[in-house]
Amino acid sequence: MSPAALAIFDLDGVLADTAHLHFRAWKTIADELGIYFDEAFNQQLKGVERIGSLRAILAHGELELTELEVAAFAERKNALYLDAVAHLTPNDLLPGVLAILENIKNRGMQAAVASASRNAPLVLDRLGIADRFIFVADPALSRPKPAPDLFLACADAANTPPSQCIGFEDAVVGITAIKEAGMRAIGIGDRKILKEADIVFSSVAAVNLEEVLKYRKILDGFST
Ligand code: BG6
Ligand code: MG
Repeated sequence: MSPAALAIFDLDGVLADTAHLHFRAWKTIADELGIYFDEAFNQQLKGVERIGSLRAILAHGELELTELEVAAFAERKNALYLDAVAHLTPNDLLPGVLAILENIKNRGMQAAVASASRNAPLVLDRLGIADRFIFVADPALSRPKPAPDLFLACADAANTPPSQCIGFEDAVVGITAIKEAGMRAIGIGDRKILKEADIVFSSVAAVNLEEVLKYRKILDGFST
C-alpha cells in the first residue's frame, strides 16, 4: 500500500498573518541602526531565517557589525517578535486555512509544517492548530531555504516519498526549496513573483485542492 500523501505548509504568510509582525520587529531594529527599511525591501526577507535576514538588512544599509553585535540585535528582534506572538489568537489564521486542513484530513492525507521560524511550534500553539500536523521541521537541524532540507525532513518523518508531497509557500526561496526537494510547489501570492511554482493561487482561501491533486494525478500517477 502506498503511503498517505503529505501536504507541507510554510507558516508565516501561508497559515498565519505573521509576516507583518516580523516586518514590524525588523523595522524597529533597522530604525535603531539608522538603516532605511520598507515593505519593498522586506519582500526579500520572506522565508529567510533570522540571522540571514539581519545580515541582508546590514548589507542593505552598508553597515558592518561584530559577530557579538549581530547576535545581540538578532536576539532583540526575536524578543520584539515574541511580544507580538503573545497576542496571537486563532483569529490570526489566514482565511481558508481551517477549511483546507479539514479537506486534507478528509482525503486521508497528512499535513506537516516546514517553516524557517524557530518560533513555529509556539506560533502554531497560539493559533490553536498545533495538533493538526504530524510533524514540524526544526530549522536548527536543517540548512535554510532555498535548501530543500526542511521539506525533506517532513517527508522523511511521514515516511512519504517526495513525489507524493505537495508544498505550499509564499516565498521565492521556499518555492525553490520545494522544487529542490522534488515535490510539487503551490505558490501562495503573486504568480509574477513566484515564477518557479507549479501552480499559484492568490491566497490559501483561493486554493482549489481538487485541481492541485488532479494535476498531480495526470503528471505522476498520484492517488489519495
Ligand atoms: C520565516 C519568515 O518564516 O521565518 C521570516 O518568513 C523570518 O521573516 C524567519 O525571519 C525566521 O523566523 P524566526 O521566528 O526564527 O526569527
Ligand atoms: Mg512564508
